[in-house]
Amino acid sequence: MSKLPTRLRRNPVLRQLVEETCLSINDLVQPIFVTYSNEKTEIPSMPGQYHIPLDVIEKEVEQLVDLGISAIILFGIPASKDEKGLDAINDKGIVQQAIRKIKQHFPDLLVITDVCFCQYTIHGHCGILDDKGLINRKESLEYLQKQVISHANAGADVVAPSCMIDEMIKYIRKVLDNSGYEDISILSYAVKYASSFYGPFRDAAHSTPKHGDRQSYQIYPGNIQEALKEAKIDEDEGADIIMVKPALPYLDVIHQVKNMVQCPVAAYQVSGEYAMIKAASEKGWLDENKCIIESLTGIKRAGANFIITYFAISAAQLIKKISNEK
Ligand code: PBG
Repeated sequence: MSKLPTRLRRNPVLRQLVEETCLSINDLVQPIFVTYSNEKTEIPSMPGQYHIPLDVIEKEVEQLVDLGISAIILFGIPASKDEKGLDAINDKGIVQQAIRKIKQHFPDLLVITDVCFCQYTIHGHCGILDDKGLINRKESLEYLQKQVISHANAGADVVAPSCMIDEMIKYIRKVLDNSGYEDISILSYAVKYASSFYGPFRDAAHSTPKHGDRQSYQIYPGNIQEALKEAKIDEDEGADIIMVKPALPYLDVIHQVKNMVQCPVAAYQVSGEYAMIKAASEKGWLDENKCIIESLTGIKRAGANFIITYFAISAAQLIKKISNEK
């Protein structure tokens, strides 16, 4: 008997029949940066991604909805920053206004909100700081609760805390339940590495820390035991979905987390992963469209139930094209 694996690769029909991982438009979540400025401006380190004015947010969202993308994650760029990131907890804050506008036009679109303070504070750290410039956990947890409730009041479907503050899920679940928001899900950025691949995002969100870095709260890239511990704690505290971030350098982490937790796992293909493919494609060194599909398929194969990606629009267009050709 000859064992020839290429027999099943001989033609497209056979290849499709034995396909193990198939990327779908339902797997994609598009991040959106909303701003008070009235000009739509491209983010230099993320070509094709924009700061979107609140005034026209529904127009932008309409394009996504027309393509069949059914979920977004919102990031706000406030008009001004302060020590405690007050715009983040304000019912009339940038994100809160954006949620209301979007929900008014597209009630069925799933609106996820990033819950953090780094874009909103002068110091650029993810929580409220004490006199020594370190995260004040108790005060940060109180402010997180306020932020989450203001997002819920505005109509968010899912809240996604990304600040890596211990017990954030416990506190957030508690305040949601006590406020009549049992139905709002928590997508925890449980496994967030201290990664250099966030560089372009920090330009986009103006959220680079003014002093120090995030190594005292994000995970060291070489550690996986710690990642599993974080995932387990957050699941036990009530997270509905666990996120691993970044995605491509951490496929083993996605895989192991998926095998350990009972809840769905999300992966975030971050700004630096986007920028790499974009830059190499601009130089003609990579085929952008093929790399988009291959990277997202790999992330799904590793175990992600869905992927937050700046390529959501391009990938949706490509998936449509590929399925028309099949
Ligand atoms: C923090 C946050 C970050 C990203 C998402 N939420 C930045 C950070 O931790 O420094 C990064 C996303 C990306 O790089 O695309 N609010």
